[in-house]
Amino acid sequence: REVLILNGPNLGRLGTREPEIYGATTYADLVALCEKVATECGLTADVRQTDDEAQMLGWLHEAADSESPVVLNPAAWSHYSIALHDACAMLTAPLVEVHISNIHTRERFRHHSVVSATAAGVIAGLGVDGYAAAIRWLAEHA
Ligand code: DQA
Repeated sequence: REVLILNGPNLGRLGTREPEIYGATTYADLVALCEKVATECGLTADVRQTDDEAQMLGWLHEAADSESPVVLNPAAWSHYSIALHDACAMLTAPLVEVHISNIHTRERFRHHSVVSATAAGVIAGLGVDGYAAAIRWLAEHA
């Protein structure tokens, strides 16, 4: 079974982007980690990143059609995109929302995520290990 791992804006710059917040792991390392963990769990990971909201909405529609479980780091869209909330609400398989940083200990505007109400669970603050935990949970529960 396939798990879609979708990453929103600026996450392609992991490794060089504010490493004191997001760590030294590069986006390429994140892709490799997700593929490895998924394989260990008997899943296939399709890992994607976009800075384009329309592209992300299209991928979520695809996940709705294929009934695929999703790991989503909505990045900044978490905090304001009702369109993203609505697309996530269409999914039938479980969605796990992941944030690398602990959004609750940062600026106030990061404390609320409009996606969380559509998620089976939310992981924040565990760095890229949050993706591994999300994949393992989906392998057991999706
Ligand atoms: C993030 C947290 C968001 O507030 C931020 O806009 C991001 C990344 C995280 O993974 O910690 O781009 O989703």
